[in-house]
Order: sequence, then C-alpha cells, then structure tokens
Amino acid sequence: PDYSLSVMSAVSEPVAIITGAASGIGLALVKHLIAKGWRVVMADINDVAGLQAAQDLGSDRVVFHKTDVGSWSDQVSLFQRAWQWSGMGRLDLLVANAGIFRPDDICDTGSDDTPKEPALEVLKVDLFSVFYGLKLFVHYSKKNPQPSGKVVVTSSPTGIYPFPFGPEYCSAKHGVIGLVRSMGPRLQKQGIYINAVLPGFVLTGATPAAVSSLVPEDYLTSLGAVCKAYDMFVDDFTHFGQCLEVSVDKVYFSNPPAYCDEAQAF
Ligand code: NAI
Repeated sequence: PDYSLSVMSAVSEPVAIITGAASGIGLALVKHLIAKGWRVVMADINDVAGLQAAQDLGSDRVVFHKTDVGSWSDQVSLFQRAWQWSGMGRLDLLVANAGIFRPDDICDTGSDDTPKEPALEVLKVDLFSVFYGLKLFVHYSKKNPQPSGKVVVTSSPTGIYPFPFGPEYCSAKHGVIGLVRSMGPRLQKQGIYINAVLPGFVLTGATPAAVSSLVPEDYLTSLGAVCKAYDMFVDDFTHFGQCLEVSVDKVYFSNPPAYCDEAQAF
C-alpha cells in the first residue's frame, strides 16, 4: 500500500500509547507528555477510572481506549485506534507500563493429592503483554517510509534482584529486561529504541497499605523523579537496550557484564 498520502495527513504532534494509564505511574506520564505537547492514547483495563482521568485532563490531545494488555486482540484494536487517531501516519512512542502484583506462595500446593495451579495471570499481564505491544509497534512503524520510534518498558528493581514475596512478578520483570536487552541492538538498526525504566518504591494505587506503612518516607521515589527517568529515553536517541534504575532522586544505568557487548555483535 502507498502510505504517502496518509503520512501527509498525519497529526503534527508526536503520538504515544501509554498502557496502565488510568492511575499511578502511567497517569503521571500521560500528564507529563501532554504538558510537553504530545498526543497520548491512554490504555487501561479499568475503563471507569481511565475515562474519568482522560476527561479530567480536558485536552483534545488525549483519548482513552479500554484494553486488557494481556489480550492480543485487545492490543490489536488499541494499535488500530491509535493509528487512525494519529491520522494514520505516526506512532512515536509506546510506554508498556501496565502491571499487576499478585503474590502466590509456590510452596502452598494445597492439601489434597493434586497441587493447586500456580497463579500465572501476572506473567500474562506483566510479560506477554510487552511482547504483544512490541510486535505491534514494530509492525506499525514499518508503515512509515523511515521507521522510527521509542519503546519504554516499566520493569522494576525486582527485574534484576530476587524478590521472594512475588516470584511471578519478579520473573515477569526479569523477563521484560531480557526482551529489552536482547532486542535493543537489533531494533536500533531499524530505527526503534527500546529501553526499560526500573522505578524504586513509588506510592501508587498498586501499593498495598500494609507495605507502604513499612517503607520509610526517605526511601520513596516520587512520580516526578520517575517521569524524569522516562525523559532520558523519550527525548534522546543514544540509548537502546538499557535499564535505568530510579531510586529516590538518583538514576543509574544497570549494565550487564562486558562480555555481553561482544555477544551482541552476532
Ligand atoms: P497502578 O496500579 O497505580 O497502575 C497500574 C495500572 O495498570 C492500573 O491503572 C491498572 O488498572 C492497569 N492494569 C492492570 N491490569 C491491566 C491489564 N490487564 N490491562 C491494562 N491495564 C491494566 O500501579 P503503578 O505503581 O503505577 O504501576 C505501574 C507499573 O510500574 C507496573 O508495571 C508496576 O509493576 C511498575 N512498578 C511500580 C512500582 C511501585 O513502587 N509503584 C515499582 C516498580 C515498578
């Protein structure tokens, strides 16, 4: 197909899809990007909170799309909507941020002979969803004469350290880092820059009250500090396959051992 006409009708502002946009880190990022002049498609499974948040923003540069990121067909429809809304010509950024935390004690197998099935919903929402979004982002970026764009994944320090309180969550967050580091160099050659932000402890809707009361105030990371960490990837075309930890008010790259650079050459 000839996309030259649709490129001409594309909106002039950069366009982002942000998942998990109805609250917490996602919503803070929506506000941050809107203030910087972006258009944002807000995706979330919670349509009540999402529609309300979009309405409260009072901007014609946001639109809400109900999406279960763990569903491939939901993500297909999200990207179709975003592509149409952008004038069928641009998709600049995906922030794959939606996530859930559901603790499940793997040692609790139940009392009878048949063990309980592990709760793997977390892997679907926190890990598979990123594969879905990335595949679709690559697909749509190919529609542009010069493919380019950014993907930023919200991982967590539990993506590089052990987290015995949530092994599924920890595995999913490790998994997305594996994806980012593996695909970073290859996608960069195609003009797509994929990186991960690993926020420290941020008080959001997802934080159980019992946990937040245990965390000392000077250990908390603010939403403002998290947004600045995303800026390092959104505004810049030098990083790819990187993980940026943001803890309290400090940001630092978490690098794999040097031999990995040589492995990337293959
Ligand atoms: P939050 O609960 O405030 O936001 C998560 C959003 O994702 C919610 O609006 C929720 O409705 C949405 N969501 C849940 N399941 C979904 C699905 N299947 N499809 C679409 N949307 C879905 O939590 P928060 O803290 O803003 O979390 C955002 C991301 O940050 C998550 O990936 C989380 O794991 C990560 N993170 C959070 C940290 C924290 O301390 N709050 C620390 C490190 C990482």
